[in-house]
Amino acid sequence: MANSALYKNPILFAVVTTVVVLIGTVVTMFYPMMTPEMHPKLEGLKQYTPLQLAGKDVYQQEGCVGCHTQTVRPLKTEVLRYGEYSKAGEFFYDHPFLWGSKRTGPDLARIGGKYPDAWQYKHFEDPQSFFAESNMPKYGWLKNNKLDPADVEAHMKALGFTYQPEDIALLNGKSELDALVAYMQVIGTSVKKADAGDKKKDLSVEPVNPFKGDPKAIASGKELYSQNCSACHGVKGEGGIGPSLIDDEFLYVKGDLKDDDYFELINNGTQAGNVEEGRTMKGGMPPYASLGRDKIWHLVSYIRSLQGK
Ligand code: HEC
Ligand code: HEC
Repeated sequence: MANSALYKNPILFAVVTTVVVLIGTVVTMFYPMMTPEMHPKLEGLKQYTPLQLAGKDVYQQEGCVGCHTQTVRPLKTEVLRYGEYSKAGEFFYDHPFLWGSKRTGPDLARIGGKYPDAWQYKHFEDPQSFFAESNMPKYGWLKNNKLDPADVEAHMKALGFTYQPEDIALLNGKSELDALVAYMQVIGTSVKKADAGDKKKDLSVEPVNPFKGDPKAIASGKELYSQNCSACHGVKGEGGIGPSLIDDEFLYVKGDLKDDDYFELINNGTQAGNVEEGRTMKGGMPPYASLGRDKIWHLVSYIRSLQGK
């Protein structure tokens, strides 16, 4: 009887249908959204320190998200260019997340540890000194804005992050630029980078430079060097942000490395803690595999010519 009454009363029918659909929506959508499984946290992910959080605020305040994304899509081309694709669990502490959607500049999801701090400072002060055509604004003036520890502390509290009074004390005298660099260096570091050791396996490279002493290769290497390397290693290899290439110390130990070790360093870049010929890297040298085999050998030829070898 009740059934037939329901079917004859369109208003009651509409109300009951709406309630049933709403229950379905809550059970299948909203309830799962509240469960912890929908908010995964990557193992090894740490909450932001006060300095890093202050840097993230600067990133938001300056609208870096308008030119940079912070997410690597799971596409081969992206992974080759930027590194491991982004995982949901990486963004657990990001309120709000800064994925962005506009890439005027490159993606920054794997920027942490890609360059040394000194590179970051110099690049923020004058991006054009590295890349003449860069349209990234200069941000050196951020170093004149001192952080307000009380303000950062309030933000840590609002996000429910734990911290020690010492961590807040560390902010004294720090500038917004220091905070921004600290933030850059932590982005994406909870995801392990593809091990340079793995890449080494598919790298079948001749042990000696096939372009050794070739004047054309040296000329080509010279040009590549001034475009890619001189900002860190100095105009004539004398060093700067990166170590000197013309002294007798390589990876902090006296004594030269072999041609194929040079090749590997340039091809793979370096990561802190990796070991080459028994020498431990500190990290901060970006990979140049995209140049391709010949050009990397040209660079080796040029470096050897600088060394007078
Ligand atoms: C008008 C667009 C624009 C804005 C705004 C901008 N950038 Fe950039 N950024 C670029 C471009 C283009 C490049 C590539 C050339 C270069 O390195 O200068 C770049 C490069 C970078 C790099 C080096 C990336 C790499 O892998 O080599 C970092 C780090 C960076 N930007 C951080 C920032 C931060 C932080 C902000 C905000 C304070 C910012 N950018 C604002 C356009 C922009
Ligand atoms: C962003 C800065 C930066 C750039 C750009 C850079 N390097 Fe490096 N390079 C470093 C750092 C830092 C090290 C030390 C690596 C370590 O400790 O892990 C290094 C180490 C090296 C070494 C070992 C030398 C030694 O004395 O330990 C060679 C060879 C080298 N780089 C070549 C190159 C070449 C060739 C290029 C250009 C294609 C280049 N680098 C671009 C920062 C850079």
